[in-house]
Amino acid sequence: MMRHLLSAGDLSRDEALLVLDTAAEMARVAAAPVKKLPTLRGRTVVNLFFEDSTRTRTSFELAAKRLSADVINFSAKGSAVSKGEGLKDTALTLEAMGADAVVIRHAMSGAPHRLAGWVRGSVVNAGDGTHEHPTQALLDAFTMRSRLGRLEGLQVTLVGDILHSRVARSNVLLLRTLGAEVTLVAPPTLIPVGVEDWPAQVSYDFDRVLPKSDVVMMLRVQRERMGAVYFPSVREYSRRYGLDAARMAMLPPESVVMHPGPMNRGMEIAAEVADSPRSTIVEQVTNGVSVRMAVLYLLLGGAMGGASE
Ligand code: NCD
Repeated sequence: MMRHLLSAGDLSRDEALLVLDTAAEMARVAAAPVKKLPTLRGRTVVNLFFEDSTRTRTSFELAAKRLSADVINFSAKGSAVSKGEGLKDTALTLEAMGADAVVIRHAMSGAPHRLAGWVRGSVVNAGDGTHEHPTQALLDAFTMRSRLGRLEGLQVTLVGDILHSRVARSNVLLLRTLGAEVTLVAPPTLIPVGVEDWPAQVSYDFDRVLPKSDVVMMLRVQRERMGAVYFPSVREYSRRYGLDAARMAMLPPESVVMHPGPMNRGMEIAAEVADSPRSTIVEQVTNGVSVRMAVLYLLLGGAMGGASE
């Protein structure tokens, strides 16, 4: 296993499957009455979050704690960052305190890669700008595999704000590695330039893609990243690209609906769809903890094959 997890594209098929299989073991721990392993006792994990987050930050925190690591939660607000300290000095300070792993979320695409050049410990990308969010893609793949029993040959449709979505980018890379086929559906304004080079198909017609999708992953419309107007109105967006009950009825019977959260209920996804039995949204959150446990365990040198300390 590599030292850092910066991009979903860095994982070979075997490495990705190792993470998913390890996460399945971790999920068994989560189901036990005592949800804790001694594996990372004495190790320190720093959560370095420069962007707001609910599920990803708490998920990493819980994952590290379930492996008995010490966890430091650092957020830019209330730190020396608000006094102008740069990423490098912040990172070196944390390293001087003995961080074995740094989990970073940053508004700047590429920040985790820079960090990896400065610190000795492992760096985990927990979302960098509009670039990547590899642990989200891993938990999504884990969720697809546990619901549908396979990844190879699955038809996965990602819908919505592809342009600003690090979740979409990481999913496209990982799903290709794992043998699934991805179709992107979005208004033309929310499709990134250079998409021809992505290992994915593009469609502007949601209704045509629905009947052949095993998975439909709805993406949040990221209004905080939009400096311009990308579509005429929320109503128009929902009408063409939102998933409501009528559209959900066009899906094959076994297919599932996913969303990384946070959701704009009523915009990209109707409340009744989000809360339906087809929705994996709550499972994705649960699986996120197991997947992050697996990633921390593998990166921090937990030997595979049952060796425990
Ligand atoms: C995503 C993110 O932050 O990239 N959320 C998450 O990590 N669960 C997607 C989003 O913000 O829409």
